[in-house]
Parts: sequence; structure tokens; C-alpha cells
Amino acid sequence: MRGCLLVKNIGTLQTATGNSVRCGSAQGENTKLENAAILIKDGMIEEITCDGELPKSAGAAGLVLDAEGNLVTPGLVDAHTHLVFGGYRQNEIPLKLKGASYVDILKAGGGILDTVKKTRRASFEELYEKSTGFLDEMLALGVTACEAKSGYGLDFENEIKQLEVLKKIAEEHPIDIVATYMGAHAVPEEYKGKPDEYISMVCGTVMPYVAENGLAEYCDVFCEDSAFNVGQSREYLLCAKACGFGLKIHADEIEAIGGSKLAGELRAASAEHLIATDEEGIEALSKSGTVAVLLPGTSFYLGKQYAPARRMIELGVPVALATDFNPGSCPSLNLQLIINMACLKYKMTPEEILTAVTINAACAVGRGGAIGTLEKGKQGDLVVWDAKDMETLCYRFGSNLALQVIKKGELV
Ligand code: NIG
Ligand code: FE
Repeated sequence: MRGCLLVKNIGTLQTATGNSVRCGSAQGENTKLENAAILIKDGMIEEITCDGELPKSAGAAGLVLDAEGNLVTPGLVDAHTHLVFGGYRQNEIPLKLKGASYVDILKAGGGILDTVKKTRRASFEELYEKSTGFLDEMLALGVTACEAKSGYGLDFENEIKQLEVLKKIAEEHPIDIVATYMGAHAVPEEYKGKPDEYISMVCGTVMPYVAENGLAEYCDVFCEDSAFNVGQSREYLLCAKACGFGLKIHADEIEAIGGSKLAGELRAASAEHLIATDEEGIEALSKSGTVAVLLPGTSFYLGKQYAPARRMIELGVPVALATDFNPGSCPSLNLQLIINMACLKYKMTPEEILTAVTINAACAVGRGGAIGTLEKGKQGDLVVWDAKDMETLCYRFGSNLALQVIKKGELV
């Protein structure tokens, strides 16, 4: 039958289970089925078997893939990217080598504001082509769904341009895309010294348009000394809530100025970065059930400390992992590299990591019911790895270990 794929001879099929976040000890619980097979019909998982048994309607499969004893996991979900941007920022490398920090560069009018200039200059088509190329690369690395933020336009026309690019890509690319409006990413040049006025403009004009036109599901704010303070972030997020958006917050990336506590107070869907989060911040997140989206690639690239992932898991905060792919603080879209870093730097176990890059990441973007685990009724998104176990994914770094990526039952 067309539209029916059988993947057989799976050495280990490893997955978390359920539709909701897994925290505490449950973050480290995975189901491991040996000698397994999976049947995907019309894009959805129909049956999973193990111990050498084949699914009942295996004979109906139009296509059979032999996994040759390898590991199969759900497709990876990258819950935090800044996918659409003009230009690059390799010109910052010499400044970094001379000791300039991320904030020094931003304050000198570089950093995000430099990318804003380049994004404003870029045409819709250029951004579309470039972002599609990035997504092709991500798919080949095993990512089957991702979140993508705007935030390099910072005015009506260019924020909408970024979100329209995402809308078109979402319709055309195999990767599922969840769009986030990040109008509060930085204070643009034309509002320099007037962040309150900028937030009022965003809340009065751009955000309602984004909501009315269904251009994003979430809103995000960079809550940081060099961007928006807690009061401004609260105003932006309360407006987002009133418009019906889910809430995300870039919190405690450079300094803990209260971003994670604000995430807790507003019961945000996710708080992201959390490099500098203190005990109080972790407690606030654990009370609100907010997903901590941790981004070790950014710690690496900025030469910062690593987020206190173990303490978060200990206190019951659901942890997800993502790349933060962007041109300034993490110019890598390789979620496999993030898996290595989470193991070696956060000391997360392979099982906790798998949960973090699948179901917890899916929940951080509101897709826990559809993706993130391999179970009957979920989308047929999976990866056959050039590995026998998750330990190998934590161990090998710098190579692409995805042998075959399957999206909604199609080989891609
Ligand atoms: O998540 N911190 C704010 N945003 C990005 C960086 C964006 C940029 O530098 O272009 C981040 O690190
Ligand atoms: Fe980010």
C-alpha cells in the first residue's frame, strides 16, 4: 500500500512516552524496545512491535526500510532558533579575540542591531532561500520540528517579513515549524534610549497584527540589562497573553535580573537560556511547570558558564535542549552537538537528554500531543542512527550520525 512504511530490524527503539513534559526522575525514563519494528501509515504511527515480531499489517507496507540493528529514536525537536536573518557576523571574530564580550559588541551598535540592519536590507526571497537551506541542513541532522523566532526586523514591515517567510516555509518544508514573534529582542536604533515607547508601539501595533493574521503562536522577550528590564518584559508578555499567544522568555542569559522569576509569575510555557539562574529562579520555574529550554551551544560560543541543569532536574523543572541557532551567540544548527554538550557539560544522562530533545522540546512549543515520542497515533517522525545506543550519540561529536531521517512516514 502506498503511504505505508515499515521500518524493521531496529536494534533498539528508544523513546520517552506520553504527551506531556517529563521532569525529575521521569525525565530519565525511556522505553527501550529490542529487535523492534514500526509501521507508519498515512504519516502516523500505526503499530510498534519488539522481540522480532512484525506488526500485523506489515505485509501491506509499500516500502520496507531495514534499520540493520541500529538505534531508532523520535525525530529531534529544536525548541529555540532564530532561523531567519540577513547576513552573518563573522566580522565579530577579531573583536572576540581581542576580548570584547557579547554585550560590549551589542552596546557598540553591533551584535543583534547589526543583524537587524542586514535583515531589513534582505528581500523576502533572499531570507526564504537562506532559511530553507538551514532547514535542509537541520533535517539531515535528524531535526524534524523546530521553533523559529522573528526579532531581527524590529519594525512593523520587517518583523512581518520574517514571519511571512516562516509561514511560507512552514507550508512547503518537511520540518514542522512553530513561529514565535520576538518583537522585544533589542531596542532598535530609532528608539534608542526609549525602550518603553518601543514596547508601547509593539504592543499597540505589531503584536495585534501578528495575532489577527495567525503569524505566530508564541511571543518572546529578551529580558536582560542590555535589552528589556523586568517591567518592560512583563508589559510585553501580558499584552501577548491578552492577544492569545503562549509566552516565552530569554531569561538570565547574561545576568539574573529576574527573568526566570517573571516566567514563573506569568506561568510562561518556557524560559530559555538560564545560564545565570539562581536557586530562587529555579524554584519559580519548578512551581509554574515552565519548561527550561537550555542552550549549551551559547555557553560554549560566548565562553560562559553552563546552566545548572542537574539542579533543575533535581527540583523538578522539565528540561529541554535546543541550539539557539542565530548569527551572533550560537552560529550552529547542529542539535547533535548540543546532545554531546548536555552530556559532558550539564552531566545529563543519555535518557534525560533524549527526553530533552524530543518530548520536552515538543511540549515547549505546544506539540506534545503530536510529536516527541514514538507511540501509536503520533506523527511518524523518526531517525535511524549510525549508532546502536544513545551513549554513542553522547560520545561521538562533530559527525552527522543520522543515517536516515523519516518525516511523517516519508524518507527525507
Ligand atoms: O538567544 N539573546 C538574544 N538573542 C540571541 C542572540 C541573537 C544575536 O546575537 O543575534 C540569543 O542568544
Ligand atoms: Fe535565543
